[in-house]
Amino acid sequence: MQNLKLNNGVSIPEIGFGTWQIPDGETTAQAVKTALEYGYTHIDTAACYQNEIGVGRAIRESGVPREKLFVTTKLWNTERGYDSALRAFAASLQKLQLEYLDLYLIHWPDNKNPALNTASWQALEKLYQEGLIKALGVSNFKPRHLQPLLDTAEIKPAVNQIEYHPGFRQEETVEFCQKHHILVEAWSPLGSGRILQNPDLQRIAQKYNKSTAQLCLRWCRQNGTLPLPKSITPERIKENAQALDFEISAEDMQRINALPQFGWSGSDPDKMDF
Ligand code: A2P
Repeated sequence: MQNLKLNNGVSIPEIGFGTWQIPDGETTAQAVKTALEYGYTHIDTAACYQNEIGVGRAIRESGVPREKLFVTTKLWNTERGYDSALRAFAASLQKLQLEYLDLYLIHWPDNKNPALNTASWQALEKLYQEGLIKALGVSNFKPRHLQPLLDTAEIKPAVNQIEYHPGFRQEETVEFCQKHHILVEAWSPLGSGRILQNPDLQRIAQKYNKSTAQLCLRWCRQNGTLPLPKSITPERIKENAQALDFEISAEDMQRINALPQFGWSGSDPDKMDF
């Protein structure tokens, strides 16, 4: 697995292990340890996934040196604001039993009180300046949420993590991010499994002797996004880790890009009021 460079020069492994919906405890610890054994060095969690303790345990028990890992977690919506973001960050570090984070994201924009997005961001900037976070970013931000942040931020966001998979490309957000050198990370790159039975994707994957999941992950990379597949199944964790060693032709990229919308989770950042 290769590294990409974020807009502040920090290296980030080009595929990450997603942990959304993995229950804490043994299940998370086993899944993350398996991922580390199969060569992932990039783990994505969030305070709201409630599995930071298991992620931290897996990291410690794996014996992989901390500096070889790239760990992301996220500020949950109930903790928005300057002081509460600082407290939430400390609580996440404590659960993960880590001394610093590679990437910390604001999980969802606040639509009702956008000033809170700025206040949270200022807390993240302080932590960044203190060396406790190596890179800062957001998640589920559309251009209308990102622009005010870009206007006021001292440190520009390096990442925007959004839902992204064949059938749901969020072109406007991706174009905006690419123009501003913000790396797009793809959550649900397999549409949480919903898109894997699509006959067009299955047919194209067969051409390359790859699974449909591997095709989706490679497609993310070729469109410049960084996929974060989740699995608790060892064979799938391995399969997903080996997804990037082939090239999808320009014609097939076009075909996948042109698929009509399908597999969307239904979560619209503009409509979220939590
Ligand atoms: P499981 O965790 O039971 O192995 P996403 O990353 O888009 O959220 O998708 C996660 C879903 O896709 C999970 O239900 C996961 O199942 C399933 N999944 C992950 N990798 C694969 C794969 N290589 N083949 C089939 N299903 C997969």
